[in-house]
Amino acid sequence: MGLMLSSLPELDKIIRTKEFDMGSYADLHQRSLQTPQAFWAEQAELVHWHRKFDRVCDYDHPPFARWFVGGQTNACYNAVDRHLPGRANQAALIHVSTETPDGSPVETVFTYQELHQRVSQCAALMQSLGVARGDRVLVYMPMIPEAVFAMLACARIGAIHSVVFGGFASVSLALRIDDARPKLVMSADGGSRGGKAVPYKPLLDEAIRLAQHKPEAVVIKNLGRADCPMQAGRDHDYDQLFAAQAGKQVPVVWLESTDASYTLYTSGTTGKPKGVQRDVGGHIVALAWSMKNVFCGNPGETMFTAADVGWAVGHSYAVYGPLIHGMASIIYEGLPIRPDPGIWWSLVAKHKVTRMFTAPTAIRVLKKSSTDFMSRYDLSSLKSLFLAGEPLDEPTARWISGALGVPVIDNYWQTETGWPILAVARGVEPGMKTKFGSPGVAMPGYDVKILDEVTGQAVAANVKGVVAIEGPLPPGCMPTVWGDDARFESTYWTSFPDRQAYSTFDWGICDQDGYFFILGRTDDVINVAGHRLGTREIEESISSHASVAEVAVVGVADSLKGQVAMGFVVLRDAGQFADASAKLKLEGEIMKVVESQLGAFARPARVHFVNALPKTRSGKMLRRALVAVCEGRDPGDLTTIEDPAALAQIRSMVSA
Ligand code: PRX
Repeated sequence: MGLMLSSLPELDKIIRTKEFDMGSYADLHQRSLQTPQAFWAEQAELVHWHRKFDRVCDYDHPPFARWFVGGQTNACYNAVDRHLPGRANQAALIHVSTETPDGSPVETVFTYQELHQRVSQCAALMQSLGVARGDRVLVYMPMIPEAVFAMLACARIGAIHSVVFGGFASVSLALRIDDARPKLVMSADGGSRGGKAVPYKPLLDEAIRLAQHKPEAVVIKNLGRADCPMQAGRDHDYDQLFAAQAGKQVPVVWLESTDASYTLYTSGTTGKPKGVQRDVGGHIVALAWSMKNVFCGNPGETMFTAADVGWAVGHSYAVYGPLIHGMASIIYEGLPIRPDPGIWWSLVAKHKVTRMFTAPTAIRVLKKSSTDFMSRYDLSSLKSLFLAGEPLDEPTARWISGALGVPVIDNYWQTETGWPILAVARGVEPGMKTKFGSPGVAMPGYDVKILDEVTGQAVAANVKGVVAIEGPLPPGCMPTVWGDDARFESTYWTSFPDRQAYSTFDWGICDQDGYFFILGRTDDVINVAGHRLGTREIEESISSHASVAEVAVVGVADSLKGQVAMGFVVLRDAGQFADASAKLKLEGEIMKVVESQLGAFARPARVHFVNALPKTRSGKMLRRALVAVCEGRDPGDLTTIEDPAALAQIRSMVSA
């Protein structure tokens, strides 16, 4: 491929001008499926390889795909070092926090040179604590630059990062510690929400106490937000260790393309969260391709992805994607409405942001205030707004595109895939149209099918089925579940009879033009304000309360958050809680349990106490009927229901 030692100007030319002999997007997609080896070998030229790969895709053991086998590269090198010759003094990372006493923004800009130094120093810090290639580092931090330094430092030395949302509850954090078995935890004294401190250290200490696996070291960035008792021998102060490594240059460790680069935990049907694994080479090729062709940013411009680094969108498009593409990336700590609902737009104007990315929920929050908060800023730099993570409703899409006067581009993907499955690729075909309600068409390498959930056969256009992907999954998608190949196979690849296809666990339809429409999950996963939650996890948490005999949690439509969790509980001894005040108190207690085990975002909107849960005669919970009743819809066919009174009671409760 002749690019092994390519300098920045050459790579820049490739990013900006290489057309890869493209015709229409549809032709390109066809080519990606018909001649995947040639197609992806070409796309791999978007990144730097230390050693060229010998095989583009090894799919000898389906469903396990190994991309760019034999190749050696490094994500940190591609995100940082590669840009030094031409961009040393260009902004790389712009951190803005409005988590200040009065909400006024505090900003820190790191050029590529400065980012390089910080990352190197952070890598040296990790090495001083014995972290080496293949070791896991758990990052449990608020949205601060140190979280990004830690991720890139891991990538630099081949350690595997596992970022957990800051403030995640102890029990959930403990599960992740036991699964990832980190040598080191990078954390902070606390986060902050709406100017109010959220202590992290007690949650982390409790998680480590609960976990079987004990990390050797904990490094705390003290932000002066919360009390932070340190445990001698285990806990270290970030600033002290960091200062001790001043000026250190840590060389990049060249990794195998197929090595694990990070894990990110996500909810599924069972209570135990899955560690979605990412590789090294496929990951950066997919991000480079999507940055150029879906997000259409140009090197040197600024991208603003308003998403937590603990989320897939934060990993791909706040940290790795923009940097790999030579852009400046804004990371933001704070609420979108504090100090006022114009804060994000002020950043767009100030930094001449060209591409912005967030979740529909954030836009629905902003929609409650006047568009004056936008019109007071010069937003002419902005070329498009990308939204993902949950269904984009038409009123929200129309409101924001009208207010901004730029295209709003919905895109559909999952933590598992790491980059869009469905979108439009205007970098390939500038005039590619979007359709309201559709996140677009299949991206390259994704052989997306709508399959009948019973027969596993592909359904006709405009017929509802399960959104599935034929293997191999393209570069960038999860190669396996961390430490559990069997679970990867059994969870994702066994949904359809006589056919090994990846299930997204989403319902969808595909129209005659190849545009897909997503119609909600097929499993028990719900989406609250862009947070993916397993209702089973919430049920298990509620069940741990001594008064609870049985519980069902479902996701119910909500105009702001997309969905909220609603709990229905059968009590062990209902007589004890006969009066309204006792019920209210118990409801509060149960919510506290969920909050302390899973986190505030998982707390149900309501917990209703019922005599019985609606089940079939064979004991299967009638979840869809339950949801329909909560949403005031017709519950449909109820011939199999064991006790119709159960649903009647729920109907009268939720309508009250
Ligand atoms: O149900 C789909 C929904 O979010 C799920 C994936 O969530 P997560 O793993 O957090 O990944 C987010 C990365 C963007 C999907 O299975 N979802 C995601 N994007 C969309 C969506 N539903 C409808 N439209 C979307 N654009």
